[in-house]
Amino acid sequence: MAGILVYATILLMTLVWCRLLRKQKKGSQGKSETQLPPGSMGWPYIGETLQLYSRDPNVFFATKQKRYGEIFKTHILGCPSVMLASPEAARFVLVTQAHLFKPTYPHSKERLVGPAALFFHQGDYHTRLRKLVQASLSIEAIRNLVPDIDALAASTVDSWHGGHVVNTFHEIKKFSFEVGILMIFGRLEARYREELKKNYFIVDKGYNSFPTNIPGTPYRKALQARKRLSKILSDIISERKEKKLLEKDLLGCLLNSKDEKGQVLTDDKIADNIIGTLFAAQDTTASVMTWIVKYLHDNPKLLEAVKAEQKAIKILAEQSNQPLSWSHTRNMPITYKVILETLRMASIISFTFREAVADVEYKGEDQSIYVIHEPRYLIPKGWKVMPLFRNIHHNPDFFTDPQKFDPSRFQVAPKPNTFMPFGSGVHACPGNELAKLEMLIVTHHLVSKFRWEVVGSESGIQYGPFPVPQQGLPTRFWKESTT
Ligand code: HEM
Repeated sequence: MAGILVYATILLMTLVWCRLLRKQKKGSQGKSETQLPPGSMGWPYIGETLQLYSRDPNVFFATKQKRYGEIFKTHILGCPSVMLASPEAARFVLVTQAHLFKPTYPHSKERLVGPAALFFHQGDYHTRLRKLVQASLSIEAIRNLVPDIDALAASTVDSWHGGHVVNTFHEIKKFSFEVGILMIFGRLEARYREELKKNYFIVDKGYNSFPTNIPGTPYRKALQARKRLSKILSDIISERKEKKLLEKDLLGCLLNSKDEKGQVLTDDKIADNIIGTLFAAQDTTASVMTWIVKYLHDNPKLLEAVKAEQKAIKILAEQSNQPLSWSHTRNMPITYKVILETLRMASIISFTFREAVADVEYKGEDQSIYVIHEPRYLIPKGWKVMPLFRNIHHNPDFFTDPQKFDPSRFQVAPKPNTFMPFGSGVHACPGNELAKLEMLIVTHHLVSKFRWEVVGSESGIQYGPFPVPQQGLPTRFWKESTT
């Protein structure tokens, strides 16, 4: 009997032991087993590039997300890539593990902007340059720009009056260029401004063209114009150095900076960062402003509310004989929500690019029991990583009825990491306050003085590379008092 008991106990213990071992093995397997995210790599060499460019890129991303979930792999533009449509994964790449993912741009674009522009870099050089750009865009600095931006906005929209067809995007681009010049150089002599404008617009045209050095092509012309820009900038820099002015604009911040060894920035580095900032500032702001004009046009009730808000501010300013001020711009809650909703709906920066500098394991930031069994994904070294801002902004889990233009949704702050029109983390947009200020001031002048009608087909999007309404939103504007 005792023998049977001992035998049964040993058997039982062995069974329990085996089970435990199996469980442990399973657990440790789960822990060490990383796998590539689901998805398809498409055809050899070309991958899925054709699928991406043969239709609306947003449809490509949305279809993939539906099929594979929030993290999926693909192969585009010659690169194996991982796309991230979850707020946690975007935060992982852009914020918490940003050092493992470097910014990456095509060489042809780096050549045009200038290789020393801050957003091509990470580490100490990036941190130093970013601080300088941030200083020139601080609230203190942009507050002083209000009178000049106000005058520029007024003269821009006044020039649209008369009912002729205006290419809204092109016109607003001229305005955002002038504001860029203002924050970089302060009040710049007209001859320099004209020369910069002429050559900058040639570079801008070549930026999205096929990169070839064949004479006569837009890219080649852009390279030549970029050389001329360097010369103009070098003249402006020499003049500023001679005058020994301690200005607070971007040029002043760049000229006055010394590193820990007392070294100043070279003229080439200064030029690259000036052109880089202009590039980052101009098309982005103009695209969003064009969408504001469209969304207000398409939503008459909302337009009435924005008009009432802005007309009240206009009367207030006129009564006290004051021009539009910084504090007026801080008191435009309805217009401000329209801007936020436009940033979400249009999501003009649909995604950004990074490249993994090492093999990275992504296991999900959320350690709650609901995700503990989620697979761990490997992002191999050298792969591109693309946080998909637009997919996050259009996810019904974060924004109810996401295709509806509804500024009132911003009465409640969005959930953390679900609203990133200006990016996030170490490369987040340092110009976001200036961009919003420009949009508030242009909207003020537009709605308080004008009515407008969009011409022709009212739907359709063109990419250049940011999404804007078809043909730059051809529109007729009339001053309300004269009609
Ligand atoms: C509505 C207008 C704008 C939008 C939607 C926008 C959006 C963005 C986004 C998403 C990024 C991050 C890109 C990334 O992580 O790869 C970025 C970076 C940047 N933006 Fe903006 N931006 C706007 C206007 C401006 C303006 C007006 C300026 C300057 C006057 C500016 C200067 C920059 C710079 C210098 C960077 C690079 C920052 C870095 O790498 O540290 N942006 N912007």
